[in-house]
Amino acid sequence: MMRLAIRSCCSARRLLVSRSPRRSLATLTDRDAAFFESLLGKSGVVTDAQDLERFNSDWTGEFRGHSKLAVRPASTEEVAEIMRYCFQRDIPVVPQGGNTGLVGGSIPMKDELIISLSRMNKIRGFDEVLGAITCEAGVTLQTAEEYVQQRNHVMPLDLGSKGSCQIGGNLATNAGGIRLIKYGSLRGNILGLKAVLSDGRVLDSMRTLRKDNVGYDLKQLFVGSEGTLGIITECAVLTPPKPEELRVVLIPMDSFDDAIHTLKSAKRFFNSALSAFEYLDEASFELVKTYSKGQKDFKLQTKTGRVPSFYVVMEIATEAPVDGGDDPDARLITFLDSLGGISDVAISKNAESYKSIWGLRENITSSLRSSGMRVFKYDVSLPARTLHEATMYVKGKLLEEGYRDVRVFEYGHLGDGNLHFNAGSPRSTSPGEIAKVQDAIENHLYSFVKSKEGSVSAEHGLGQLKAKKILYSRTPIEVEWMKNVKRTFDPKGILNPGKVLI
Ligand code: FAD
Ligand code: MLT
Ligand code: ZN
Repeated sequence: MMRLAIRSCCSARRLLVSRSPRRSLATLTDRDAAFFESLLGKSGVVTDAQDLERFNSDWTGEFRGHSKLAVRPASTEEVAEIMRYCFQRDIPVVPQGGNTGLVGGSIPMKDELIISLSRMNKIRGFDEVLGAITCEAGVTLQTAEEYVQQRNHVMPLDLGSKGSCQIGGNLATNAGGIRLIKYGSLRGNILGLKAVLSDGRVLDSMRTLRKDNVGYDLKQLFVGSEGTLGIITECAVLTPPKPEELRVVLIPMDSFDDAIHTLKSAKRFFNSALSAFEYLDEASFELVKTYSKGQKDFKLQTKTGRVPSFYVVMEIATEAPVDGGDDPDARLITFLDSLGGISDVAISKNAESYKSIWGLRENITSSLRSSGMRVFKYDVSLPARTLHEATMYVKGKLLEEGYRDVRVFEYGHLGDGNLHFNAGSPRSTSPGEIAKVQDAIENHLYSFVKSKEGSVSAEHGLGQLKAKKILYSRTPIEVEWMKNVKRTFDPKGILNPGKVLI
């Protein structure tokens, strides 16, 4: 038995050398389904075609897989058993969290086994002194947020998808969001992590130390690896103290340069109290007003009395009395006065207006979906002052090439230099034309990004959408060493094939 097992493992490795890894992988059979059912029980296995729909399609509806089987383990040990079996049988797997990713990372390329982490939703505890939450990977960001808020802390990240996305998915994508400007990236806030490796062994780095310089920091490899190096099952994340008060303000802008000037001034004026600095263009503003219920009544003019071309959504978190004891409204007014003559702003006064102003920025993504257009989504990092230049450059090229019915929406995390360039085509656009529009946008946008030494993925990851674009933002040697890391962790290529590195 032992010899046979070793021989089949070696021959699989030989196959990997001579053929593409995907072709040497197994297809799921009824026997596999029976094995998983014996391991997880009936409720842990999904085989019904209709029930599988939500596992096989993503939030945008643009990616579609054809998996015949999704498993729902409830513990690290069960994930380990699943992976041991898949490793022996060469079964490819796709880890799936809340399925809110925007680059198709959680959707099978073909018929891979889907491993959903949703049942792993236990919060293990909270260290009051350290301010760290310890939980399973399937806890949603919102559940974690509510849990830590009851303890007077906040999660270090906030995303529009928080009701559905999971901590494991957030770590696997190194999600950014609206608070990165204040709390930094998840990489800096993760203390510990447990991951199941491709062969079913458990890599246990579940520590909660602020300082720990023993050798290589392996847990960081899993952050942003999009399920291609292992399956995250548990984690410990630092949570900053909850601010005393939050104020959000919507400021209309005559130009993008005005928004940049406001950013520079706000950073200096508020320092660490600046907890979000977002922007959206007029097209995004009007879109949200059309498709989102709570934002219809916003109507602001710029200081010159014109319709704004941009809006800034800025949030201030006060941690009085350290901040000097000024009340947040007085500080905001002093700041706005310092900008010179801005009169028409909306400042949150209570929970309702806070939510409604934030809705203008946070509901762009869902409004784009509700619009019924075929939406092309992009997420790039650039020097902040060049974000609008990038939009104008691509828009100009699209017009030059005759794509006149493509509508462009510009928004993003201005404080972090993160542009979300989105374009919408009428649904009636033919598949051939859609491919052409997509090619045109990608070529122009990514060439611009490369010319500025930016990144083709600021926060959403590469998934399947951008796996082929990696060389725009990484050198061939960097990619070669990423592939070496991948081979070390996943010698059979069974972890999320077709994603990130292809
Ligand atoms: P999924 O979509 O399920 O998976 C994402 C990737 O991670 C896949 O490759 C998957 O295989 C892998 N994965 C998931 N769980 C695990 C695990 N436990 N172990 C290993 N791999 C795993 N993103 C931002 O960065 N900033 C934003 O501001 C933001 N806003 C959004 C707003 C909306 C309305 C929507 C729909 C999405 C938004 N996103 C944003 C994108 C998305 O929510 C994030 O990428 C999020 O982190 C994905 O988490 P998830 O649990 O849904 O992961
Ligand atoms: C956002 O910042 O709104 C999200 O990253 C989603 C998107 O890009 O639409
Ligand atoms: Zn974003």
